[in-house]
Amino acid sequence: MADVRFFTGESIPLEMHKVRIVQKLSLAPVERRLEAIAVAGNNTFLLHNRDIFLDMLTDSGVNAMSDQQLAAMMTADDSYAGSATFTRLESKLAELFGMPHFLPAHQGRACEHIIASTLVKPGSIVPMNFHFTTTKAHIVRNGGAVVELLIDEGLKTTSEFPFKGNLDVSRLKQVISRHGADSIPFVRLEAGTNLIGGQPFSLSNAREVAAVCRAHGIPTVLDASLLQDNLHFIKQREAECRDMSIREITRALADEMDIIYFSARKLGFAKGGGICVRDDALFARMRELVPLFEGFLTYGGMSVREMEAIAVGLDETMDEDVISQGPQFIQFMTDELVRAGVPVVTPAGGLGCHLNAMEFLPHVPQQEYPAGALAAALYIAGGIRGMERGTMSEAREPDGGEVLSQMELLRLAMPRRVFTLSQVKYAIDRIVWLHGRRDLIGGLTFTEEPAVLRFFFGRLKPASDWQERLVGAFHADLGDSL
Ligand code: F0G
Repeated sequence: MADVRFFTGESIPLEMHKVRIVQKLSLAPVERRLEAIAVAGNNTFLLHNRDIFLDMLTDSGVNAMSDQQLAAMMTADDSYAGSATFTRLESKLAELFGMPHFLPAHQGRACEHIIASTLVKPGSIVPMNFHFTTTKAHIVRNGGAVVELLIDEGLKTTSEFPFKGNLDVSRLKQVISRHGADSIPFVRLEAGTNLIGGQPFSLSNAREVAAVCRAHGIPTVLDASLLQDNLHFIKQREAECRDMSIREITRALADEMDIIYFSARKLGFAKGGGICVRDDALFARMRELVPLFEGFLTYGGMSVREMEAIAVGLDETMDEDVISQGPQFIQFMTDELVRAGVPVVTPAGGLGCHLNAMEFLPHVPQQEYPAGALAAALYIAGGIRGMERGTMSEAREPDGGEVLSQMELLRLAMPRRVFTLSQVKYAIDRIVWLHGRRDLIGGLTFTEEPAVLRFFFGRLKPASDWQERLVGAFHADLGDSL
């Protein structure tokens, strides 16, 4: 990572890129924001982009692309079968991960569909460091169950532990001896563990997990969607890896895995996905599903232009100056919020900065979705769109009972190379303001609740007139400011 010190001693992230294409933004007045969130059913997924100033919903498919990626898109070889673009992407993945086979798919969850349909049966148990929403949905859909084996430290929102995404190896051994290796189709490790705040696992943990799996003949699966952040953290935080290049770390990790799949909306800074496979027989089984659900084997539902961009993006991912930008901005935002006394997940992870809604809004019960309420409040306060990652993102029990999430987070994703530091400072300012006025914020209740992945389309209403009162406080404290 570029080591540039400021003479004044100030410590801020310095961008190692310049911006050459921009998109105009506008910030609607607070009354308009109040109206827009009501129309969106208090669900930030249902807001229109034109009403949003800083879109921190996700880092999926919205990262800035490089000049080299755009240039490569122009040379894409468009053909239904056998395109040279596919061969370039396949070779790049083989070069980085050292696996002989690649199956293209249109995005990450499509890979999960193929993997789960091939390997998960009724009664299967799938251990993993932590679930992701779409991953769990596909495993459950095929009759399996997810067992989360995150180390205890992982669920502590404030910590100094560098690898909160580690899987607890002794609990893995217990699960294997309790259920038997035959009922475990694979063990999944998620890089940059999304739902606990973009937290990494260490290379040594991955090696230990893989050794246990090998001893029992259980395949290992890496969800590499957020691998870029995890690679950065391994290099920065794992003493034994300090002298390894990002490329060497990538290969050392890949060598422990049997399957690596990814959302290229994150890994590779483009749009698409795919599955890399080591075993010939397993590849043959999964391959059957690609033409059925995705498209022919040399595009798998992706545009060839995106495939060219992924190949270049993967190569750029091996450059520490490229992949450190997100984590450095997130660290800056996290540090500033900690200094202002705002409860956030620490240590800073990848993906985004995560506000701890359980502590931010201790007066809002989990049944009224504190993280969802905070998402609505922050949109009103600053036109900033975040994503609820708490009870709303869980599915109800079959008997209708709420599954109260272990964490109530408002995720403020940091799309890579998209925002400037002053925009991040604006977000910090509005969050600090909101924290000062947190007693005004109330809960939300569903008015429309879909049965599957309800957080995407569900609509809610405020439990009282707290949103109008928040707008009043905004004017009292900020006058006519937008
Ligand atoms: N795995 C992880 C770790 C992810 O973060 C995601 C997507 C997926 C799989 C599914 O990939 O969206 O391409 O189908 N995460 C997005 C997010 C949706 O906003 O965090 P996908």
